[in-house]
Formats: sequence, structure tokens, C-alpha cells
Amino acid sequence: MFDPERFVNEKVEEIKNTVKGKAIIACSGGVDSTVAAKIVEMAIHDRLLVVFVDTGFMRKNEAKEVEEVFKRAGFNYVIVDASREFIESLKNVSDPENKRKIIGAKFIEVFEKIARDFNADYLVQGTIAPDWIESGGGLRDTIKSHHNVGGLPENMSLELVEPLRDLYKDEVRNIAKYLGLEVMERQPFPGPGLAIRIIGEISEEKIEIVREANAIVEEEVENYYDFESRPWQYFAVILPVRSVGVHGDKRAYGYTIAIRMVESLDGMTAAYFRPDYALLDRIANRITTEVKNVNRVVYDITNKPPGTIEWE
Ligand code: XMP
Repeated sequence: MFDPERFVNEKVEEIKNTVKGKAIIACSGGVDSTVAAKIVEMAIHDRLLVVFVDTGFMRKNEAKEVEEVFKRAGFNYVIVDASREFIESLKNVSDPENKRKIIGAKFIEVFEKIARDFNADYLVQGTIAPDWIESGGGLRDTIKSHHNVGGLPENMSLELVEPLRDLYKDEVRNIAKYLGLEVMERQPFPGPGLAIRIIGEISEEKIEIVREANAIVEEEVENYYDFESRPWQYFAVILPVRSVGVHGDKRAYGYTIAIRMVESLDGMTAAYFRPDYALLDRIANRITTEVKNVNRVVYDITNKPPGTIEWE
């Protein structure tokens, strides 16, 4: 039986003895990175800086919610709003792999500067066993260059600290519970965020549209199904296709939102979710009335394979 108290005590002791200088962590507010940060913080206190980089591609209210997690955990933290920089760097970029690469490189650039300014010697990461067991040849790595926020910048001379390396997710959740940590238990969300849910070129208008549409999907699904019967992932994508519709008695030429909901265990394969029509009705009505410049909503009925979960 996994004993969270014993694990935490041993790790804190080990980190006290080995981590002598300052440390930094990029934390999403999710369970892995928050638990890793807390264990290190218990050992070295304010010599750990917890960082959240707001890329501008986060979900509605996400930065605020992350900040609440950090505050409650008692971290020494910074929330860096780098959204201008990220959006600028993606001007005229429509290729999905390019988007991922640019976002990954930008993230490292922003994070490195913070690490340098803080004089960090160590980089803490919330890596858990499945992360490194899967990496190196899995389907996941070959199909898309997954950018995991917090990935080790290659040329950074920081020593790596990975307190959760040998644990599985349920054990990490167990520790969070034992420590009384409130973390964000949201559905999986890709590192590049909403940038890869805008098919083709990104604009501020499209970010706003997909963020609002996504918030509606999340809210409606979560109101309709309890935790156990919810799909594994559910979100909105904005397509580069516009179509004709009617708005009042006028013709309108608006954007199309695709809704994706899937069942999956680990994201490697997935089956499209079969929601009740009543739920789809609510979502479509709300998106076409509440989100500006959207006049069509479609539902994605593709499994993985052959599709992927995300559209880019
Ligand atoms: P795909 O689209 O490859 O996604 O079927 C499988 C799962 O991974 C998530 N995903 C990502 N997660 N960085 C991440 O940390 C990424 O770049 C990334 N791309 C996709 C996706 O949301 C799904 O849960």
C-alpha cells in the first residue's frame, strides 16, 4: 500500500539534503506539477519560485484559477502574462507543427529569462512514471510534436529535480489529498492551448471566439452529466470556414465551431462520445446566440484512430 505521509517525509528530507541553492518550476495548477512544487516548497520554502506563464491561449479564467491554487498552497510565485509576445510570434503561421514549435521555443525563452533573473540552480518538474515510460517511440511522440509545458530547455544548465518520477497518477492524487492541496482537476488540455484549436491562422478575434465557445461547452457538459458519466474530453474548435446564415432577418457570414467530445483512457485511442441531443441543442443555441460571428455548429463523430483528439 502506498503511504503518502511516508513518501512526503522521505522526499522532503532528501530534497533538504540535496537541493542547496534556488529552484524554479513551471506549474500548470494541475495535480502533478502542484504536488511536485509543494513537496519541494516544504523542503526549501521560498527558495522555490513557482511560475505560471500565461501564453494567451488559456481557457477562460484559467490564469486566475491557477493563481488561487498557488495562493492557497502558500507558494512564492509569479504569474507572467506573456500573451502579447506569444500572439505576435504566431503572426501568419498556420501550419500546426510550426505553431507547436514556435510556442515551445517561446515558452522556453520566457521561462529561461525568469530562471536567470531568479538565479535558479535547479529545475523542478512534475514528471510521473507514465510520462517517461511512454516517451521515446510511442504513437504520441511520432504523430505530433507534443509540447509539454515545463519541458527541460536543452541548453539550460539547471539540475533536474523530479520528486514524483516513480509514481502513478492515483498515488499523486493520494498525496494531494493527504497534503490538503486543492488543485485544478480539469480535463486534459494541450500545452499549446487554444492555439491548436484555431485551425489555420490565429487572430485575437478567433481566440476570443473559441475561448467563449469552449467555456460554453464545458459549462453545459458539466451541468448535464455528473463527474462519472462525463466524456473524457470535451471542447470547441474554430474552423477557418465561414458560411452563410441568417441573423434576425439579415444574411450573416459567420464562423463555424466544431464540438469534440471523446471517451478515452489515456488519450492514445479514443471513441467519439454520444451525447444526448438535448445537450447538443443547448450548446448550439448558446454558441450561436452568445458568441459573436458564429452561425454554425457541427459535431465531430471521428474516432482515434484514424483521427486524433485535437484537430491540429
Ligand atoms: P491527440 O490530438 O494527439 O491528443 O490525439 C492526445 C491527448 O494529448 C493532448 N495533447 C497534448 N498534450 N501537449 C500536451 O501536453 C500537447 O502538445 C498536446 N497535444 C495534444 C490532447 O488534448 C489529448 O488529450
